[in-house]
Amino acid sequence: MTEPLFSDDDEEFDRPRLAAHGPVRVRVPAKINLHLHVGPTRPDGFHELTTVYHAIGLYDEITARRGDTLTLTMEGEGTGHLSLGEDNLVIRAARALAAETGHDPHARLHLKKQIPIAAGLAGGSADAAAALVACDQLWGTGLSRDDLAGIAATLGSDIPFLVLGGTALGTGRGELVSPILTGGHAWHWVLAVAEEGLSTPTVYRTFDELGAQSEAGPPDGLLAALRQKDPDVLAAHLANDLQAAALHLRPELRGVLDAGLDAGALAALVSGSGPTCVFLAEDARHAALLAADLEASDCCRAVRTAVGPVPGARVL
Ligand code: C5P
Repeated sequence: MTEPLFSDDDEEFDRPRLAAHGPVRVRVPAKINLHLHVGPTRPDGFHELTTVYHAIGLYDEITARRGDTLTLTMEGEGTGHLSLGEDNLVIRAARALAAETGHDPHARLHLKKQIPIAAGLAGGSADAAAALVACDQLWGTGLSRDDLAGIAATLGSDIPFLVLGGTALGTGRGELVSPILTGGHAWHWVLAVAEEGLSTPTVYRTFDELGAQSEAGPPDGLLAALRQKDPDVLAAHLANDLQAAALHLRPELRGVLDAGLDAGALAALVSGSGPTCVFLAEDARHAALLAADLEASDCCRAVRTAVGPVPGARVL
């Protein structure tokens, strides 16, 4: 990262520097992509991205306690299928932070999951970001948020964004993030969560196989729309190059997008690699009406409303 993301005098990031003795609770949001341009495949197999990340108020929570080893427990829908071992991103994040700081990787971590799994909402990445922030606090490593974002980048493309939060431009493979200041406007979203998740690598592979040209150009129009704070203008500028691949793998998502538009959504798009569909609403009341309509249409497993932008992983 070339420029610091976090200024030292930013209150949001003012945290005690001493190791915590009691439990540390960290809350971390889900993300959607307001704009996702997928470029060519790089020699390392990743795709060059230009994306606008947006953190929304749908949260997972990690509690970190002192322990003699590194352990992970979980609660929440679908967590029974997730690994609790060394391949779990939470464990990998704690070990990466320990390796970087020379600290013993000892903590008892508990994850309370609400962000749907394999949904295109970066839930796994969010948990890794939360683990970094929680262990940093528990161990009193005193790393800066930029240092944490640097470790995050080694673990996954969108983890640095989940440390940052808000609305941000992502480049490289998505790990290079710079904040976009949107002047405090709250956007209202409705999410339609599918029964079954989609694998991100499979969606990227399908994107390549379809050989589709990128439809999302540079995000200039979107950035201007965010500044205008007019949802009708923003609606015209949401774009996701992975949507065609997600629809190819799950044709029924077309019906979900249409159900939202029929119910009056200002815009509908697949979130990241899917299969969650995201709808833009006028305001909180419109979002609630839209959510009720979508629920009644029975087009998906669950419907959620969420406001964005919200901060990234934070100690509570
Ligand atoms: O970085 P992360 O582990 O989240 O990426 C998951 C998968 O998504 C990668 O293994 C790759 O298949 C795909 N991906 C990609 N290009 C990116 C980001 C992710 O091809 N920029």
